[in-house]
Amino acid sequence: MANTLALPFDLSGIRLQPGQGLARQLYQALRERILDGRLAGGTRLPASRELAELLGISRNTVTRALDQLYAEGYVAGRVGDGTYVAELTRQRPQPAPPPSDALGSPALQRLQQHHLALPPVDAPRAFRIGVPAFDLFPFETWARLQARFWRRPSLARLGYGDPAGDWQLRELIAAYLRNGRGLECDPSQIVITCGAQQAISLCAQLLIQPGDRVAVENPGYRAAGHAFAVAGAQLQGVPVDADGLQVEALQRIGGCRLVYLTPSHQYPTGVTLSLPRRLALLAWAKREGGWIVEDDYDGEYRYSGTPLAPLAALDRQQRVIYVGTFGKLAFPALRLGYLVLPPALAEAFAQRRALDMRHSEVGTQAVMAEFIAAGHFQRHIRRMRQAARSRRDTLLREWPQAIPGCAPLPMVEAGLHLCLRVDSLAREQALVSAARNAGVEMNGLSGYWLPDSQAPEDARAGLVLGFAAVPEAKIVDAVQRLRQAWKL
Ligand SMILES: Cc1ncc(COP(=O)(O)O)c(C=O)c1O
Repeated sequence: MANTLALPFDLSGIRLQPGQGLARQLYQALRERILDGRLAGGTRLPASRELAELLGISRNTVTRALDQLYAEGYVAGRVGDGTYVAELTRQRPQPAPPPSDALGSPALQRLQQHHLALPPVDAPRAFRIGVPAFDLFPFETWARLQARFWRRPSLARLGYGDPAGDWQLRELIAAYLRNGRGLECDPSQIVITCGAQQAISLCAQLLIQPGDRVAVENPGYRAAGHAFAVAGAQLQGVPVDADGLQVEALQRIGGCRLVYLTPSHQYPTGVTLSLPRRLALLAWAKREGGWIVEDDYDGEYRYSGTPLAPLAALDRQQRVIYVGTFGKLAFPALRLGYLVLPPALAEAFAQRRALDMRHSEVGTQAVMAEFIAAGHFQRHIRRMRQAARSRRDTLLREWPQAIPGCAPLPMVEAGLHLCLRVDSLAREQALVSAARNAGVEMNGLSGYWLPDSQAPEDARAGLVLGFAAVPEAKIVDAVQRLRQAWKL
């Protein structure tokens, strides 16, 4: 039952919901009225018995609310004379500033212009992009290692830690990169981050001055472009062909301070940067004194032969910054990634991170270190690669032969998603929306281009499908639904 009061002093509109802490509700209602001036300083409040009757609650409840207001200085008592609202110096409520004032700072304006679209937050569905087979994560092993860490943590690890991250984890990552990926580095070059996105953001914060030109693949990973643009960069889209980023086009743009790219498996087209392009890019960096940010988000997923060595493994000039993530091997919500930095930059990146957040949470880092040290990580990578390959095979087998306006599926040698071209933007949008209506997710390729792209509109059309997110049976089911939705 809700009670409403109409009184000479303004207690009108107080509504108390039964069963939800009546004293607290009354305290809040009175405090709000005192603060906004509806109960003026000096107003005498009714006696607690009277108030209790008016509100239909116990006197004890009223007394508790008044005691709290008294303790915080909102009301004062005069002996034998009841309870009065205290005289407070109140700030008159100011009208909200117009939006243009609120967005006065260039940083805020840039943030508005480069708004990050958030990925879906529900359980994975076919054909969600950017999600590995995390249904296969060994949660029991992880839980056991977590429990072991927290049962008796070393007190030395519970204070503030190294902003660059847990040393043991950094040693193990360095060993993994050396043995598993052919990238020689020292643990002191590694800075642990909250995923690849924070690693990219740190590069933007530390290597870019407002007005600098930053080259990004076009089409490409828009969230990386946003991070650079928000730091004040002028984004320069560089076209991508079957050999990856066109380094000649980068050279033609001229004056770029940094290039961000995904050499192992270009996001989203899926091509791999060829060796001649890799060498040309390193030569560009040397000549121009430019930085190369290599995002190796899904480099472990290669289905013929071993994973490719990163571009950073070829770098002799200390111009490449390597970005790695555990999000595509474990699961994205873990928020664990890392940077491998030229030695001269490592300390600055760690310091910048300390300013943001001191360092990452100790438990996740320590447990990941144990997970790697005990051999679970390598086993898990093999399992994830097998699962992604089998899910890829299912999609390739089930996919309809001829879809009007759609190119056939490409060869898929790497990664967790594939991309196919579509004749026109209108056809792309029709296919994507019919799929969504049938409960099947996919992204239009047109969404991965920079807004001022030169390429004709229809040349930007395509479909991007993640194939690793759900097991085979769900892939079969999703393709069946697509056949119906697309009337094939
Ligand atoms: C190309 C690329 N880089 C980076 C990321 C972000 O990775 P993280 O979740 O580790 O921030 C993604 C996520 O989908 C991605 O597709």
